[in-house]
Formats: sequence, structure tokens, C-alpha cells
Amino acid sequence: MTNHHALLPVRVGGHDLPNRLAVAPMTRVSAASDGTPTAEMAEYYARYAEGGFGLVITEGTYTDTVHSQGYLNQPGIVSATHVSAWRDVTGKVQAAGGRIVLQLMHAGALSQGNRYRADTAGPSAVPPRGEMMPEYGGSGRWPTPREMTGADIEAAIGGFVDSAVRAREAGFDGVELHGANGYLLDQFLTDYTNRRADSYGGPVANRIRLTAEVVAAIRAELGTDFCVGVRLSQGKVNDFVHRWHGGAADARIVFAALAQAGVTYLHIASEGRDWIETARLDGGVTITGLARQVSGLPVIANGGMHDLAQAAQVLSDGHADLLSIGRGALANPDLPHRLSRGLPLETYDRRMLEPMATLSNARQRRPGVHRG
Ligand SMILES: Cc1cc2nc3c(=O)[nH]c(=O)nc-3n(C[C@H](O)[C@H](O)[C@H](O)COP(=O)(O)O)c2cc1C
Repeated sequence: MTNHHALLPVRVGGHDLPNRLAVAPMTRVSAASDGTPTAEMAEYYARYAEGGFGLVITEGTYTDTVHSQGYLNQPGIVSATHVSAWRDVTGKVQAAGGRIVLQLMHAGALSQGNRYRADTAGPSAVPPRGEMMPEYGGSGRWPTPREMTGADIEAAIGGFVDSAVRAREAGFDGVELHGANGYLLDQFLTDYTNRRADSYGGPVANRIRLTAEVVAAIRAELGTDFCVGVRLSQGKVNDFVHRWHGGAADARIVFAALAQAGVTYLHIASEGRDWIETARLDGGVTITGLARQVSGLPVIANGGMHDLAQAAQVLSDGHADLLSIGRGALANPDLPHRLSRGLPLETYDRRMLEPMATLSNARQRRPGVHRG
């Protein structure tokens, strides 16, 4: 038994977790074509709880039947069928001793597959940078989105709230708003994708308004007990190197606004990079450390945390309370058990996600199954 800091218990949103290890949200484009989670997905999520992860955060899940869906075969939480299929997932994870939070995602301009709509909508009619992602079934450039009206914004907020209500019905221990990586909420926060002249555009206090309003609206509907986290990032799936222009000053405004709105935890993603490369802000602070300091809330750090020495340092130096692990968890669904027993970790094989990030593809590539 090792005494790694990540194995110490922690309390988040009224839940006592046995350790500080969370599975990072990972899109697997493996739901049925109508967005219904499958039995294969339930097995997949349960395996992480069986492997000792205290918290499982699901893949980004779409929230309405308008513009939120980002990819074909993405799961949704917009119908009674979805709720009942998710109930199988939550039941299996909880039976294995885990907690499970549903990541709620509105793709906005970065939608590359939506069974409900052919066009896309975002804060402003700005063409997205980069190209669609083949591992989630896309190719070529994203279309230029239509600028969302006040009614569109109301509908998007309503979608998040209704989805949070359904998530609770489906047995989830909480929800996490996907405010990271370039999707709708991050498009509002980002200066170059948000050119709005109304109260959602301009200074950073305005650009974080939509995310804060969604948190507050879910709180108003579900009360103070339900866990409502927010995931943020500087980098994006289509712009890894983006950094908040106002640095630590912007970060303070963002974290304070979300704390004020009633968020339960903050989760800082490091899209495509390690924490160490993305966390440093001006003034010698780290983005996760500053989030803790400003909000006083539990903070989850992400990015290369399967490097267990780095992981221990992040926790013991006070940069975060929990760690989320993506690629390292794909290779080691039992990473917490391995850590507690002092067993070595398998190396992540990127071919698990090639040509697509589906569960069936990964099965062929599991360490020990396929090497070379
Ligand atoms: C296949 C795959 C799918 C992902 N899907 C999501 C997602 O749905 N939501 C999200 O917030 N981040 C998503 N991410 C980003 C991860 O949560 C994480 O931030 C990233 O992999 C870096 O962490 P790691 O170094 O532990 O892998 C995804 C990453 C991978 C590899």
C-alpha cells in the first residue's frame, strides 16, 4: 500500500469520496444514433468504479434538441429513453462504489454532427479556427455559426436546466457544465469568438455571464444540495495554445463569478497539453491554485496526471484538491487500485482512439490485447 496523496479521501458537493482520483470526461461517440446510452457504455463506466476511481465524470452529453449536439452517436439527456438508459449506467457505477457526474455539453459553433439541425449557432458569426475532428467522425472546416438571439440563449439555458433535472432523475450524483475546450460556454468566454455588443459580450465579467446564469438557474431549480461543477480551460480542441488575455486578473473575475453563482467545484482542463504547460499564470500563481484561493471551493486539476510524481506534487503543494485523468485512465481503468498496490501503470496507446474514439475500437487496442 503506497501513501500517495491522491489516495486520501475528500469531500465534494456533499459526497465523501474515497480518494482524489476522477475519470476525466471523454467523448466516445458510442451511443445509439438517437443518443441513447448503451449497455456497452454502462460496462465501460462501471469498470472505472470497479478499478477504484472515486469519481467518474461522463463524456460531454447534449442538452437539447436544437443546437447542442456536437457529434453523431454522442449521448443525450433530452428524453425519457435517455434517462432510463443512463439509470443503468449510474446504477452500475454506484453499485461498484463510485460516484458519477454527468457532463452537460452544448457544442455551439463546434458541432460536427447534429441529428436535429443542419446549421450551427454560437455567440457571434465567427468562423471557428481549425478543422473538425476525425476521431469523432468529422472532416473539413466547421461552418460559420449563426449569431444566437436572446431567445436562443434562453433556450440554451433551459436545455441545461432541464437536463440537470433529468440527470438527477437518472441517478447522477451531480452535473458538470462543459465550459471548456472551445464549446458553447467557452465560446462566450473567449474574446475572439464572442463579438457581442449586449450584456454577454465585451469585458470578461460579461463573457462569463452565460455560464454563471446556467449555474444559478440549475441551483434555483434543484436547490443547494445538488452538485453542479463547472469545467473551464484556456486551450481548446481547435486552438491548443489559446491563453486568457487578461491572465490572472481575468481568472479572478471568472472564478469569483462562478462561486457567486453557486458552483460546487471547479475543474480546469488542459486540452492537448499537460497541466504543467498550461497552469502557470502571471504573478507566479497556477490557474488551479488561484481557482482554489478565489473560490474557496474544491478544484480538480487535469493534464498528464498519470505522471504520478507530478500528481503528488500538485496536491501536496496546494494547487488542487482532486485530479482528473483521461488518457491514463483509458490505459488503466484500475489506476487507483494499481497506485494503492504499488503496481506499474500501462502506457497509453493512442491507437485506442484511432481511427475513431469509439469503445469498440478501444477494445481491440487494450494494453495486453494489442501491442507493437
Ligand atoms: C478521447 C477523448 C475524449 C475527450 N472528450 C472530452 C469531453 O467530452 N469533455 C471534456 O471536457 N473533455 C474531453 N476530453 C479531454 C479530457 O477530459 C482531458 O482534459 C485531456 O485528455 C487531458 O487529460 P489527460 O492528460 O489525463 O488525458 C477528451 C479527451 C480524450 C482523449
